[in-house]
Formats: sequence, C-alpha cells, structure tokens
Amino acid sequence: MSSPFEFSPVKLVYGGEALGFHAGHTVLAPRVLPGERVEVEEVRRQKGVVFARPLRILQPSAERIEPACPYFGRCGGCQYQHLPHAAQVAAKSEILRETLRRLGPVKWEQPIPTHSGPAWNYRNQAQLKIGKPPDGAPGLGFYEAESNRLIDIDACPILSPRLNELLAVLRAEPWISELANGREVELVVDDRDEKIMMTLAGSWDAEEAETLAQKCLTELAGVATVAFTQDVGVRVFGESYLSYRVGDFAYRIGPTAFFQSARFLLPEFVEAVTAEVSGAVAIDLYAGVGLFTLPLSNKFEQVMAVEVHPQSTANLAANARAVPGRKIRAIAGTTFDYLRRSAQMDPDLVVMDPPRTGVGVDTLKLLLALRPKRLHYVSCNPSTLARDLAYLLQQGYSLDSLELFDFFPQTFHVESLARLSRIGRERA
Ligand SMILES: C[S@@+](CC[C@H](N)C(=O)[O-])C[C@H]1O[C@@H](n2cnc3c(N)ncnc32)[C@H](O)[C@@H]1O
Repeated sequence: MSSPFEFSPVKLVYGGEALGFHAGHTVLAPRVLPGERVEVEEVRRQKGVVFARPLRILQPSAERIEPACPYFGRCGGCQYQHLPHAAQVAAKSEILRETLRRLGPVKWEQPIPTHSGPAWNYRNQAQLKIGKPPDGAPGLGFYEAESNRLIDIDACPILSPRLNELLAVLRAEPWISELANGREVELVVDDRDEKIMMTLAGSWDAEEAETLAQKCLTELAGVATVAFTQDVGVRVFGESYLSYRVGDFAYRIGPTAFFQSARFLLPEFVEAVTAEVSGAVAIDLYAGVGLFTLPLSNKFEQVMAVEVHPQSTANLAANARAVPGRKIRAIAGTTFDYLRRSAQMDPDLVVMDPPRTGVGVDTLKLLLALRPKRLHYVSCNPSTLARDLAYLLQQGYSLDSLELFDFFPQTFHVESLARLSRIGRERA
C-alpha cells in the first residue's frame, strides 16, 4: 500500500488516531474523524496494522473545525484540535468504556460522569525543548510528533497566560542565547498563575549555572526558583520550592517533583478522590507531594503516604509535617516494597494514582492481602486501568463508579477515577 489510498475511519481510539479498514488491514491515521472520507498514505506497518498519514480530506465530517493553533499537525503536543471540545470529551468517554471492555474485559454500561473545564490555557507546566530548528537559529519549543526535530513556537494555546508571557521572553534575545547550552527548560507556575519555578537541563558548569540563575531570578518577572538538574542531584537557587494552593492546603513542590498539570480542575479532582470516605486508616499510594494525602488527613485517624521519587518524597514529608496532629506517615520507597513489609491492617480506603504503567498484578496481590475496604484508582492510562480493574473484579471487588476528568483538552490523554469496594465487606 505504498501509493495513496482512500479510507473512511469508523472510530477514534486511544492515542489520538482514528481507526478504519482498507484492503483487509486495520488502518490508523491521525487528524481524521469517523465518517470522513480521506486520502492517506502508509507510513509504516506493525503487526499487520497500517499507520497512515492524511493527505487530503475528501469528505469532511460535519463536526470538523479549524484547529486554533498554527502548529497543530506538526507539534507532537495536541491531537484533537480539529474536533470541538464537547465532542472530544464524548469521544474520550467512549474510548475509556471501549478500552476497558476490550482489554479487561471490564463491562461498564452505566454513565461516565465527566468533569470538564476551559479547553485552553489550562496547563500550569511546560517542558520546552531548547535546540536548533531546521532553519539553524537557536529556538525554544516542542518536538514534532515521534521525532526530536524542534518546532520553534511563539505561543502555545494550552499553556497558562503567564507561561506564554515567559515563553515569549525566553525565545527572544538575549535569553535564547543564554539558554543555548541547554536541552530543556521546564516551567511550573503556581495556582495564581504568578510565581514560576524554572528547571534547566543542559551543560552549564557550576559558575555559569550560578550566574545564569542569578540573572533569571533578578530579571525574569515572577521567576522565584531556578534549578539545574545534573547527573547527581539538583542545584537550586532562589526559593527551594513553589507553593501551590488547592482547596484548604498549600503544597510545596520542589524542582523535578511530580505535580498535576491541569490547573482548572484540581480542586474538583481532589474533592472527588477524597469525598464520601472516612475511617481509621487510609493509604495513599503513589502519593507525589501529597495532593490527596493532606485532605485525607481531615477524614481519617491515620494516613500512610507512599512515594518513591526523592524530591517528591522530601516535599511529601514537609507537606505532611505542616498538618497539625502528625496523623500522616510519609513513606519513601516503592509501593511494592511498602506493601511487602506491611502486615494485614484492613485499611478503610486505599487511593492509588500510579504512572502510565499502572499498578500491576504483583503489587495488587500484596495490596489485597491487606484487605482494603475501598479502593479509589486514579488512572492516566485506560489500557493499564483495564488490566488492573479486571484483576480486582476477579478478586472480590465491585466497580461502583467511573468518572472522567477532562484534564488535557486538545490531546488524547484520558484521566479517570474508578471507585471500588470489597464485596460483602459488612459481613467480613
Ligand atoms: C501520576 S503521579 C501521582 C502523584 C499524586 N497522587 C498527585 O496526584 O499529585 C504518580 C506518582 O507515583 C510515583 N511513583 C512512580 N512509581 C512508583 C512506585 N513504584 N512506588 C511509589 N511511587 C511511585 C511518581 O514519582 C509520581 O509521584
């Protein structure tokens, strides 16, 4: 199929592509919509699936809209700007349901309530690449999809206004030359879209790093922390952490620590994960800097929070210390090791919010030996959620609700919350 061919996608699938069939093959193509007739060409073939690139839209869907960003289609960041926001949300809901059914199999026929916010300017973080775009001058921006070719961008419509202001300053002289020794600059802005933490990766020696850091701290409005990541550890100048408020709590976030990047939905998200639960013991696995841990401490006599990343662990411990009553135990290490060492304790609630790889059956086996009454599973990957839910349902848990958090409009990412409870726990 090296020459162009026509096909008509039937549905959107996880990852941003649309799926259809041609000449006995499954075809996946980006930036096309179900019901359209499109001309595509094959890019590669893997396990019989043809990955194709759209050449022309022969018959557009009635839903198709003009993408708002001039870099859409080249930049690897967004996949859905050609689809109205409401249709993106509906598609993600169906993708979640269908992925659970196909890969679990987990059948969920009830509604999937959706939490949605503004579709633009929603990110509080940006990982900007520094480099030379094909025209040669140093640039700042994002990589093209599936490549490390830089696209020099002047603004990104999904970043917060403050981050776009700083991007505009950094990509112009004199800053772009100051950054030329770098590979990446990460920006994180606080909940008020004011203070910024800047983390640079690249090859500056100690003296150059210090000079550059002082210049950033004095001349870049809002920049309060500048960090350099090195092979061994992180060097920090200015304030040692960014303070980010969600609901009643202010969280310390240090350079390289994980924090959620969707600024508008965070209070609603934390509320949903920690609502309608209380009791003696809660465990927050994959706790990060304690986003759920602190509100859980209002509802449980004791909260155990487990996190492996050194910077996140340090912030988690400090955030926990700030809660009166010392109800929180911050545990540094992997979830697996923590569970392996833990004796049966009948926790009332376990929250788990793993990375894209999910929790995995080996870790779930150890978890179930503790006999948790309720599980709140936050997932950023429906495929690994399907595998883990299928196991939990076989092991005596019921799926009570499934919700979608529309954290990342314009992109294919799907964030969800599954609440489960142990069947027959009242008699246990
Ligand atoms: C998706 S984040 C969630 C963090 C936090 N719950 C939040 O919402 O801010 C996943 C976290 O799990 C941590 N992590 C990754 N693998 C882990 C493991 N095996 N054991 C414990 N924590 C892990 C990461 O460092 C990261 O902080």
